Amino acid sequence: MPPASYGPLDALNDPSARHAILTHFPVVLSIGVLLLTIASAAMKGANRTLRTTALVASVLLLISALVAVRSGDAAEAAVGNIPQVARDLVHEHEEQAERVWLFALAIVLAVATGWAKPRRAPLLSSIAAAVVALVSVGWIGQTAHHGGTLVYVYGVGTPKPLADADLRSDEEKAAGFADVRIAHFVTKVQPLLDEHCQGCHGGEDPPANLDLTSITSILEGGDTGPAVIPGKPNEGVLMRALSYEDEEIAMPPDEKLSDDAITAIAAWIRDGAVWTE
Ligand code: HEC
Repeated sequence: MPPASYGPLDALNDPSARHAILTHFPVVLSIGVLLLTIASAAMKGANRTLRTTALVASVLLLISALVAVRSGDAAEAAVGNIPQVARDLVHEHEEQAERVWLFALAIVLAVATGWAKPRRAPLLSSIAAAVVALVSVGWIGQTAHHGGTLVYVYGVGTPKPLADADLRSDEEKAAGFADVRIAHFVTKVQPLLDEHCQGCHGGEDPPANLDLTSITSILEGGDTGPAVIPGKPNEGVLMRALSYEDEEIAMPPDEKLSDDAITAIAAWIRDGAVWTE
């Protein structure tokens, strides 16, 4: 059975999502390190606890940067066919990301020199660390921005529409529809509505005023309201009826549809409830 929804735990098995989660650590840590080093510089490096905390945080930043880059390599390997502009941006993002650990290392070294002999070492080291930390935040922010553009503008690494992923049968692929969602509707959903629903929910005076023979009438719905809300398989009375959870409306009345059939209809709604005559 293909997954009916994409939950938080699925993200751990998905290289792109795992990368998206792990990259938050260097982003947050770099800001933390910046605040700590500024505070330390403001106190002229006199506060040992602050300097120690900054050292620990910058070591963590270094580790998290290396981990994020590794997860990025895995995500890149899993990226399928993407447009050239997006591929170029992936490379730019990668090159920037590969330098983050150098910044982190520079901060670690700068903070560490605070323990050197000369009297002014703590002050100078705190100032140097704050400056490098500031540059790092800018660099990491730019890297993260490119990563975000890849996800939100180009959809790199985002889950494919269900109809495209697991539900697409060989039959659908062979049918050669330009749009997988239309293919899914024509080969999977339309036959189910035809065989199990339209015999009753069609014609002059359909039950509950629900006509299931056109998308217009499906969206309008019947006595209880819209049967389908495109993009939202968990809302709308049609899925409620199919689930058999509500005794008042359990459809089709004689026998519940198979899980596969219900998932196919849910995927169709989730992918926008496209329709063709
Ligand atoms: C044998 C006839 C029959 C078939 C087949 C049938 N229905 Fe119904 N449907 C009804 C009747 C009658 C009602 C009115 C409520 C009731 O009596 O349960 C209804 C009500 C509904 C409602 C509630 C509408 C509202 O706004 O209150 C939905 C949704 C619905 N059906 C969907 C379906 C779907 C989807 C299918 C196919 C999977 C289907 N029905 C198959 C007879 C049928």
